[in-house]
Amino acid sequence: MNSERLKIIASKISQKDIVLDVGTDHGYLSIMLKKNKLCKEVYASEISKKALETAQNNFRKYHVQIKSFLSDGFKDIPVSFNTAVIAGMGTHTILNILKDPHTPEKLIIASNNNYYLLRKNLNKMGYKIVTEEAVLENNHYYIILLCIRANQKLKKKELLYGISNNEEYYKYLIEERKKIISQVPLLKKIKLVKECLELKGLIEKK
Ligand SMILES: C[S@@+](CC[C@H](N)C(=O)[O-])C[C@H]1O[C@@H](n2cnc3c(N)ncnc32)[C@H](O)[C@@H]1O
Repeated sequence: MNSERLKIIASKISQKDIVLDVGTDHGYLSIMLKKNKLCKEVYASEISKKALETAQNNFRKYHVQIKSFLSDGFKDIPVSFNTAVIAGMGTHTILNILKDPHTPEKLIIASNNNYYLLRKNLNKMGYKIVTEEAVLENNHYYIILLCIRANQKLKKKELLYGISNNEEYYKYLIEERKKIISQVPLLKKIKLVKECLELKGLIEKK
């Protein structure tokens, strides 16, 4: 439960939020929110029966009362909520969950991949990315997006590299590109060089 990523996610929650923790798995985020009284209410959900049982065992272990539901995304949630956390999944799964007509006003999203596609589609679906944080955990950067329902059209560079304004993250993105640059065909090489220059530009702007 001592995860920096989960702590940052929890820091995006406020007292008036009624939270649905979608894909709760171990249930640690829900437990953190409940134990520390960080929101008005928290519910947990899972698509996997086994994962739901793990969460329910942990709720008992940590002595918290949290209602939990077996559900694919928002499909079978019998309670009202105004905030959803969708964390630890891939962008395609997250976007599928968000196709539901009953999505909440506020979202906290932590995808594992495809950030360009994620940011672009969130804007398309009528969500504004208010803040974005890049969190380093186990040598991997996790992106945490706080979104509300509002208009936004991020620029191409913002869609590509995000709005975290985190210099260390931009340096990491440059190093990731440098690692593969010698192994890719010429056109891809040119694209990577261009991206490295854009990232350097973002660092220098700071
Ligand atoms: C890697 S765990 C992430 C756990 C936790 N949210 C976190 O960020 O640490 C991903 C969980 O999402 C669940 N999941 C995947 N697709 C889902 C869906 N459509 N609806 C609900 N849960 C889903 C999986 O069963 C799995 O337990």
